[in-house]
Amino acid sequence: MDTQLTGTDRAHLMRALELAERGRGRVSPNPLVGAVIVRDGAVVGEGFHAELGELHAERAALADCAGRGEDPRGATMYVTLEPCAHHGRQPPCVDAILEAGISRVVIASEDPSEKAAGRGPGMLRDGEVEVEFAAGEEATAARLLNQPFRKHARTGLPLVTLKLAMSLDGQTETAPGDSPWISGPESQQLVHRWRAESDAIAVGIGTVLADDPLLTARPAASGALLPPIGDEKRTGSDLRQPLRVVFDRQARLPLDSQLLQTLDVSPVVVVVSQHADAQHADALRDAGAEILVADDIEAALSDLGRRGITSLFLEGGRTLASAFLGSLAVDASRTFIAPVLLGENPSRAGGTAAGAPHNGGRGKAASEHMGEGRRDRTRAPSPPQAKNPASGRGAPGPALHHTVEEIGEDVLITARFKEW
Ligand SMILES: NC(=O)c1ccc[n+]([C@@H]2O[C@H](COP(=O)([O-])OP(=O)(O)OC[C@H]3O[C@@H](n4cnc5c(N)ncnc54)[C@H](OP(=O)(O)O)[C@@H]3O)[C@@H](O)[C@H]2O)c1
Repeated sequence: MDTQLTGTDRAHLMRALELAERGRGRVSPNPLVGAVIVRDGAVVGEGFHAELGELHAERAALADCAGRGEDPRGATMYVTLEPCAHHGRQPPCVDAILEAGISRVVIASEDPSEKAAGRGPGMLRDGEVEVEFAAGEEATAARLLNQPFRKHARTGLPLVTLKLAMSLDGQTETAPGDSPWISGPESQQLVHRWRAESDAIAVGIGTVLADDPLLTARPAASGALLPPIGDEKRTGSDLRQPLRVVFDRQARLPLDSQLLQTLDVSPVVVVVSQHADAQHADALRDAGAEILVADDIEAALSDLGRRGITSLFLEGGRTLASAFLGSLAVDASRTFIAPVLLGENPSRAGGTAAGAPHNGGRGKAASEHMGEGRRDRTRAPSPPQAKNPASGRGAPGPALHHTVEEIGEDVLITARFKEW
């Protein structure tokens, strides 16, 4: 079914991919999709899925075509994902394509959802539309664009991305009383954008007890620009707030925590074990938290997946991150290395610091996970970890792909361990 596309076909698909990117952070649990309509060598319509519940890319491109006073009859539509054939929040795109008289559809990637999986292309062929699938670079780019959607469609689980910031000597936390903030302001802005692009953020109760974080997506200063997405600049005023998830087996989340004081911004789910103190769990429920009873990470992820969470941004701390790695639940990682030396944290090492903490005057305004407030260092012992027989170290092993870039004074390593 894969075909040799011309250079022109591939250029139009690349444009459709660029358009798709503009919906990032706005359409989940739907996929990112872009479409371009070309007739007699000229682009007569462009569109993308811009907002959950609004027009799909194909209908948006047809609307753009109509807006330009152009006729799509006999044109080619380039689309990044196979057109849908089912009624969801919007009517099927296949109907719109057939009605418009499009004669050829070039598709960059298949839709692995059970309700899709080739039905749309089949209906188009039945309607005598020529259908071609891309292979190679464009197909790969289209699949990578929608990893959360694809994993959720295939497994029912959210895509998990681990974010970690560390010092040059490999420390992920500062000493009690010091600023918990390790990476620089540019990195912090990126983290806010990633939060806004995620359906949910997760932390361990150790992090909440230490830093009392907010875990919301917000720009550094009012009106400040977030890093642009594609060619679009956003001020942050339209950021979507992710669901906030605390892994807290014993239901220890303080009732006066910032998380529970800001439920109007976004809900909080507390993942507790079935052995958690019932009174504590009830008090959290009464305070407005949702209680999710799950005895392991996989069960918690399944439950979050059933709630429509397609992407989980795991912000730490180290204990919870190790447990996710041990469960082989991490699909991708984003690791900041900051040019600071922190020395061993005495509260973790049970001894004295290897050297005076030094955070290079990076300020005390925000913690690594942008929480402000008290730092009660209560912590529980680490749980035993599962082992990956392949690596023998309870982690997925080498990355399939990684990039290294400088973000302000920090180095960011972005890695992918699984592909969906
Ligand atoms: N550098 C960074 O990127 C970064 C990011 C976040 C935090 N931090 C820092 O890290 C420190 C906190 O890290 P931490 O390691 O002490 O705590 P943590 O990882 O945030 O939380 C650990 C706790 O999570 C609970 N938990 C729930 N389900 C679990 C499971 N399946 N497996 C393991 N634990 C589970 C456990 O307590 P229960 O048994 O009571 O449930 C455990 O003690 C803070 O100082 C914070 O500032 C750094």
